Amino acid sequence: MTSPEKPATQLTLLCTLDDLPEGSSKGFASNKVFAVNDCGTVYVYSNSCPHLGIPLEWTADQFLDSSGSMIQCANHGALFVINSGQCVSGPCTGRSLQAIPHQIINNSIWILPS
Ligand code: FES
Repeated sequence: MTSPEKPATQLTLLCTLDDLPEGSSKGFASNKVFAVNDCGTVYVYSNSCPHLGIPLEWTADQFLDSSGSMIQCANHGALFVINSGQCVSGPCTGRSLQAIPHQIINNSIWILPS
């Protein structure tokens, strides 16, 4: 695989879409974010649960519940809607994950400058 061409602006490469197949999630410790590919749409959130401000996963790249339809915090089971990041069950109900602005360019996921 060739490395993707870097766009001219100051973007940070997360991974290619090949590294995040539909229905999967992936963590990026160095960026403190995780990404979810839900039916071909990519969502990127800060890996910080609104409940205690700690990472959501206990196992690498495991950010989804057993059905694959919700983001789940492994610590106390909070459930978040994938496309909004809003918590709908658990100790932080009504609060939301922080969405990370990103863009798909040349089949790769790039984080936009904050
Ligand atoms: S730290 Fe996520 S639900 Fe408690």
